[in-house]
Amino acid sequence: MYTELINKAKKARENAYAPYSEFKVGAALLCKDGKIYTGCNIENISYGATNCAERTAIFKAVSEGEYEFEAMAIVGGKDKLELTSPCGMCRQVMSEFCDSDFKIILADDVNQKEYLLEELLPLSFDNIKN
Ligand code: THU
Repeated sequence: MYTELINKAKKARENAYAPYSEFKVGAALLCKDGKIYTGCNIENISYGATNCAERTAIFKAVSEGEYEFEAMAIVGGKDKLELTSPCGMCRQVMSEFCDSDFKIILADDVNQKEYLLEELLPLSFDNIKN
């Protein structure tokens, strides 16, 4: 399941700009209409200005007018892939644009784990959707 999405995340990871941490992350976001937007982490010498791969993919999609999302695959690691879970800020951005049944697929070269957004961000601050 989600093999194509994971492969697109791996491909996007090749473009990661991570000279400070050397931890490269790729993400691939599947829209409900079947389109896929990818993203990588983009670091900055002023570390707080770094953008994670997940938010890069979501912001690319939203900036193209996409608002209906089904799933995201995430891969990350230095020399070798290790299961990489999205940071709190990315979970919050997911909750802005995705339903609680949005699927988050973490993968390395061997394993694959699937979670729902509501599992990774329970009891989220959510004034709009309730
Ligand atoms: N990073 C991501 O892009 N996504 C994650 O899920 C975790 C962390 C990035 C931020 C930074 O460029 C590097 O990984 C190390 O924290």
